[in-house]
Amino acid sequence: MSNPLRVGFVGCGSVMSGPYMSLARQLRERGRIETVAACDVVGSKESFVRDELGIPKFSTSYEDVVTSPDVDAVLVLTSMPEHGKIARAALENGKHVLVEKPMATTLAEAAELLEFSKSAPGHLICAPHVVLSPTFQAIDAHLKRGDVGRPHLARARYGWSGPWWGQWFYKSGGGPLFDLGVYNVTSLTGWFGPVRRVTAMAGIANATRVVDGEEMKVEAEDNFQILLDFGNAFFGSVTTGFTMQQYRGPAIELYGSDGTIQMMGDDWAPAGYELWQNSVGAWQIHADRDPRWPWTDGLQHLVECVETGRSPLVTAEHAFHVLEVMLAAIDAARDGQTRTITSTFTPPSFAAPESEEAAHLRHDPSRD
Ligand SMILES: NC(=O)c1ccc[n+]([C@@H]2O[C@H](COP(=O)([O-])OP(=O)(O)OC[C@H]3O[C@@H](n4cnc5c(N)ncnc54)[C@H](O)[C@@H]3O)[C@@H](O)[C@H]2O)c1
Repeated sequence: MSNPLRVGFVGCGSVMSGPYMSLARQLRERGRIETVAACDVVGSKESFVRDELGIPKFSTSYEDVVTSPDVDAVLVLTSMPEHGKIARAALENGKHVLVEKPMATTLAEAAELLEFSKSAPGHLICAPHVVLSPTFQAIDAHLKRGDVGRPHLARARYGWSGPWWGQWFYKSGGGPLFDLGVYNVTSLTGWFGPVRRVTAMAGIANATRVVDGEEMKVEAEDNFQILLDFGNAFFGSVTTGFTMQQYRGPAIELYGSDGTIQMMGDDWAPAGYELWQNSVGAWQIHADRDPRWPWTDGLQHLVECVETGRSPLVTAEHAFHVLEVMLAAIDAARDGQTRTITSTFTPPSFAAPESEEAAHLRHDPSRD
């Protein structure tokens, strides 16, 4: 067995201390990683990080983590505008990097990061990791087999009423498209490949918010309807906002010439899928293969890629394309012009999904 991957965290807020540490603890218990260092600009987090999270080194400067000889992989879990520069610095120092979404908030910064990653020794894994979910991959297998025929329309949705922490979510460089709609754009392009054209409507539905106990002015659009053109008269839509109180119904609907697939739950937390085929004439309900699949799975994937030498399925090229689509949607909403998308990428291709029996045998009770 290889040595445990030594992980350093940059940003110790909500997702680091909750979902990422939950997976990191499991990997730590199995001897696959060590959690060696963490950094947050808020120095008062030190005792929490050391005493409650069990991470021995703490700093208020990300440079200390990205240059540390004790760190093999850096997880960039800060507010979004910080992602690009910290991910780049970590790659430059020879580290593997997992960066939360988006990879950067400007296309120029993301282009530099992408270019640099091609010659860097470390892997660059860019969230969201939706293509790793068993439900995503099961749907992908149906699409590739032609079970619903030629794709004509796709509809995706993810939203909620919005965070009450982190004012940066509502400032320029934040907003629900980067935070939430990014999952939908990643899912649709993960199945169907690059988008050719984008147009959108967006606006600020809630002009002020109370965040971290203070009333603030909302600067970033908080409400979006986006249209995607995949070519060959195949169109997609993404509905996202910090403007949705609740919903019931599929996160994603895919309409093909011979059938329909609906992903239930959300694409970051799927709850199985429903398949209609004209040839069968009935809805086929598929329970989720792994209801405990964590949306932080990119961390486990990174560990596996380092251990096995395999290339990541979550690619920086895909994340760059998704960022171009999102920025084009924001621009299109502002001036009413449809935008042509120039970047491209190759969607991931997966091994055949395991049978339900194999998934059952793989079941690890320690994760329950
Ligand atoms: N909150 C969610 O449910 C959620 C889910 C998935 C992904 N994400 C993504 O995870 C990231 C973090 O989200 P969050 O909700 O944890 O935010 P948060 O505001 O709770 O945490 C961010 C932390 O980063 C720290 N930070 C900011 N700049 C820094 C810097 N230069 N160096 C070191 N630390 C710095 C902040 O002090 C804060 O503690 C975002 O990119 C977000 O899009 C969030």
